[in-house]
Amino acid sequence: MKVLVIGSGGREHALVWKLAQSPRVSALFCAPGNAGIESEARCVPIATEDIPKLKAFAVSEGIDLTVVGPEGSLALGVADEFRKAKLKLFGPTRGAAEIESSKIFAKDLMTRHQIPTASARSFDRVEPALDYLAHHPLPVVVKAEGLAQGKGVVVATTHEQAREAATDMLERQRFGRAGQRVLVEEFLDGAEVTVMAFTDGKTVVPMVAAQDHKRVGDGDTGPNTGGMGAYAPAPLVTPSLHATILRDVLRPIVDALSRIGRPFHGVLYAGLMIARGTPYVLEFNARFGDPETQVVLPLLKTDLVDVMEAVVEHRLDQLAIEWHQQSAVCVVLTSAGYPGSYQTGLPIHGLPETETSDDHALVFHAGTRREGQAIVTAGGRVVGVTGLAPRLAIARERAYKAAGTISFEGRHFRSDIASQALQASL
Ligand code: AMP
Ligand code: GLY
Repeated sequence: MKVLVIGSGGREHALVWKLAQSPRVSALFCAPGNAGIESEARCVPIATEDIPKLKAFAVSEGIDLTVVGPEGSLALGVADEFRKAKLKLFGPTRGAAEIESSKIFAKDLMTRHQIPTASARSFDRVEPALDYLAHHPLPVVVKAEGLAQGKGVVVATTHEQAREAATDMLERQRFGRAGQRVLVEEFLDGAEVTVMAFTDGKTVVPMVAAQDHKRVGDGDTGPNTGGMGAYAPAPLVTPSLHATILRDVLRPIVDALSRIGRPFHGVLYAGLMIARGTPYVLEFNARFGDPETQVVLPLLKTDLVDVMEAVVEHRLDQLAIEWHQQSAVCVVLTSAGYPGSYQTGLPIHGLPETETSDDHALVFHAGTRREGQAIVTAGGRVVGVTGLAPRLAIARERAYKAAGTISFEGRHFRSDIASQALQASL
């Protein structure tokens, strides 16, 4: 089988690494890929949002299955376009992907189906938003309606900050179209977890729960990023909570999307706040999370091609999906300055192969590119290092040990990935 992966980050490197293990894959391509993906797949220089070129490539190469990483391609309708050309693709249509690309659509659907989530109101003009905010209890959450690469959410602890956020989005158009409408949302206090699920629109199979670390600094300080690290399984999500999340969140939203004629095929990502034992939805994503994928896929025992094919062919009910009884911890190494502006083109030293020689860690490239013999930085998140072990504490040690061998100017990482889970379990 010939498989094409769309994307260029750590998530896509993890996907490519996993797909390469399948005896069913005869050729693996990635558009556009990165310097690490190159060692497992043939990288083709097509941008993730250039849908016509991606489609032309898939047709001319005779690609049997295309796997979509980033939300941007989905929101542009890559699945719809591929379907028109009778090409098999793992990922939801544009209409179904609105569960991520429109926070107002997602909120309406959740409210109509009694899926637990923070109460919210939407605004498209700044004055009514400011009036409403002036009387809202603090903290209050202001969210841009559209895709803003994880930067469109402000948790305001003062009315001044809330006003500033709403004005930035609605008046100064800081996020362009994505911020033309905003949601003002009640603040939820609790512990955040991610549960992703495979679904073919009928059957929903949740993966092991993961926890992301969104803030840039230790102890959850500093601005939000795309994710500084993750671990799985998250011990907070007990088997009974996992079952509740499936029953009260994942199944109802998948059913709701099918009922309105937008069946969801692919990976549905639920970002949840667990408050007094109840899972509240913070956001849905229409794809694999990053870095969560870098800890969840290494734990998947079943051939990923079999899973994806079952989703695409709408027969997920016929497959038993199995997991390794292991833990995984991923530490992300970032460029100095990220998530603000940062320098690129800096040489990276001490990079191991994807699978380290002791088999204890995996090195997934995110923002890297080849320059002659050297591999240099090419993004904010540069490399993700995943440690694996039967126990979370050892997985964490292994991740940090392997991460320590990799260096580049200004390298930053959090030193407390998975710490809270370990302290809680003592
Ligand atoms: P989102 O992209 O909607 O998941 O929001 C990004 C981050 O903002 C989340 O991971 C949470 O840490 C925080 N957040 C979003 N909505 C809320 C809320 N209603 N209450 C508390 N924190 C929130
Ligand atoms: N780690 C958060 C996301 O992928 O959106």
